[in-house]
Amino acid sequence: MPSQFYYLSILEKNLRYKKYVIDKKLCYFKPHATKIEKSFSEEVIFGLGLKKKMIQPKFFYDIRGSDLFDKICALSEYYLARTEIEILNNIREELTMILDSEYRLVELGSGSATKTRIILDVLDKIQSKIEYFPIDISDILAESSEILLDSYSNLHITGIIDTYEDGLQFIEEYDDKKNLILFLGSSLGNFAETDTMHFLKQINKTMKRSDLFLIGLDLVKDKKILDKAYDDSQGITSQFNLNVLQRINDGLGGNFDLNKFEHRAFYNQELQRIEMYLKSKSEQIVHISKTNTDVKFNKNELIHTEYSHKYTIPQIKQMMNQCNFKINNMWFDSNQYYCVLLASKF
Ligand code: TRP
Repeated sequence: MPSQFYYLSILEKNLRYKKYVIDKKLCYFKPHATKIEKSFSEEVIFGLGLKKKMIQPKFFYDIRGSDLFDKICALSEYYLARTEIEILNNIREELTMILDSEYRLVELGSGSATKTRIILDVLDKIQSKIEYFPIDISDILAESSEILLDSYSNLHITGIIDTYEDGLQFIEEYDDKKNLILFLGSSLGNFAETDTMHFLKQINKTMKRSDLFLIGLDLVKDKKILDKAYDDSQGITSQFNLNVLQRINDGLGGNFDLNKFEHRAFYNQELQRIEMYLKSKSEQIVHISKTNTDVKFNKNELIHTEYSHKYTIPQIKQMMNQCNFKINNMWFDSNQYYCVLLASKF
C-alpha cells in the first residue's frame, strides 16, 4: 500500500513538473513555468556582477553549444571522448556480466549518444525492455531521443529536462527500480572543487544499495597534451566558449560583440585543472536589455567560464571513498590518459 508520503511526493511532482507524452515509448518531464529560463537570467546577472566575473558552464549547452561540443569530441586534439569510447568498448563483455535485467539506465547530461549507445547495446543483450532516463538541462533531449528510439525497438525513454540535482531527486522519488547512473565525459571535473564532493555525496545519497554508478574521469598528464585539447587548432573550442555570449544575446537581449572577446584556455599544473575564460579585448560596456543591466569590462578582463579538473588515481580513490562510494572496478586505456570506474554505495 503506497504511503501518504508517496501520494504527497506524486502531488508535489505534478506541481513541479509537466509531463509531455510524445508516444508510447517517449515522454519527458519539464519543470513548470519558466524555472530554467529564470535561473539563466538570474545566474548570468549574478555571475557578471561579481568582482571576478563568471558564467556557469551548464549554460554552454543550448542546441548550438551541444552541436559544437559534438564537434569538439571529434577533434584529434580532444583525446577524452575517443579514449572514453575505447574503454567503454573494451568493457562491454564485463558489463554484460555485471548488469542484469533489472537495471534502468539513468544518464546525467545525455550529450552525444555515441557513448550511451555502447551501454544500450549491453543492456539490449540482457533485457527485453530497456528503460532510459536521460537528465539534461537542454531541450536537445527530445531530438536525440527520437534518433535512439529508431535504433532500439525495445527502448522506452523518459527524459527529464532539469538540472542534475533536481533530476536525480526526481528519480529517487519516482520508484524503486534499480538504476545504473552514467556520468561520462569527465563532467565531474567541471564543477568547482567545493561543489565536486558535494555533488558526489548527493548522488550517493539518492542511490539505493543496489544502484550502480559508472563515471568517466580524465587523468593528470603532460601539460602540452592538455593545453591542446582545450585550445584546438581549428578554433572549435573557441567558438564553443564564445557561443555562451551569443546565448545571452539571443535569450536575454544582450549586445555582446563576439569579436571583442577571445577564448583563453590553459592547464594550471599546480591546481590540476584546465582554466577557461573569455577575455575582453577592450574596455567596453555590454547592455543586457531583458534584465536592464549594464556590464562594464576593462581591457583584458576575464570572464571565467569553465574548469576541467584532472585527477591522479589515488585522488580518485580517496574522493570516492570520502563520498561513501565503494569502487567495484576501474578501467583505463593503454596510455592511462583516462579512467572509467564503476562504484556502488557502501
Ligand atoms: N567535460 C568536458 C571536459 O572537461 C567539457 C569540455 C570539453 C569543455 N571541452 C570543453 C567545456 C571546452 C568547455 C570548453 O573536457
